[in-house]
Amino acid sequence: MEVTKLNHPLVEHKLTILRNKKTGTKEFREIIGELSMMLCYEAMKDAKVEDYEIETPITKMTGKKLNEDNYAFIPILRAGTGMLDGLIKVMPNAKIGHIGMYRDEETLKPVRYFFKTPKDLDKREVIVLDPMLATGGSGCDAIASLKASGAKKLKFLCIIAAPEGIKKMQEEHPDVQIYTAAIDEKLNDIGYIVPGLGDAGDRIFGTK
Ligand code: PRP
Ligand code: URA
Repeated sequence: MEVTKLNHPLVEHKLTILRNKKTGTKEFREIIGELSMMLCYEAMKDAKVEDYEIETPITKMTGKKLNEDNYAFIPILRAGTGMLDGLIKVMPNAKIGHIGMYRDEETLKPVRYFFKTPKDLDKREVIVLDPMLATGGSGCDAIASLKASGAKKLKFLCIIAAPEGIKKMQEEHPDVQIYTAAIDEKLNDIGYIVPGLGDAGDRIFGTK
């Protein structure tokens, strides 16, 4: 499946602030939320809506209604929760699950430490959130574990993707559409995205 990359001057502007090492925790967190809303807008383009009768102050009309209950947002801890803050502003009634995962600093392999999702994953569209798709190890493992729990329709939303992570995701999960705000150049020798934005979790939570 092709990667969907946001292409908009506002996104480029926000990304530049995000990448700047001088940007502090508050602004960093706010922009992660804003970009996540824009990714959500893009990812929901194929959403099914139903007719819904209302009355405006002027007249009766048929509007459209989205059943938010059909969606599950699954942030990968920690950094994915920064994206969740933006998404629940636009879809407050979606179900939410969490996958706890960190990259082993030596091997760069993901280590899963928590897994809790809404039930009936097979009946929902499952939207996985993680700002960074680097080697792709964490995202691919998260998606494999969600598929093993029944998820059938999945999307992956990230802020920055590396070509290496996109390749791995497309090879292991060709059915999963990736939505990203940026595709960067490469990974460095310790697995960080170049130019990237550094450690997303540390910058969201101010832990370094
Ligand atoms: C970061 C990021 C992804 C992962 C991406 O998390 O949020 O989960 O690295 O790297 P990968 O594609 O090579 O697997 P990290 O392990 O730093 O954990 P944190 O969110 O708790 O900081
Ligand atoms: N995880 C991050 O937070 N940043 C990177 O550049 C790569 C993985």
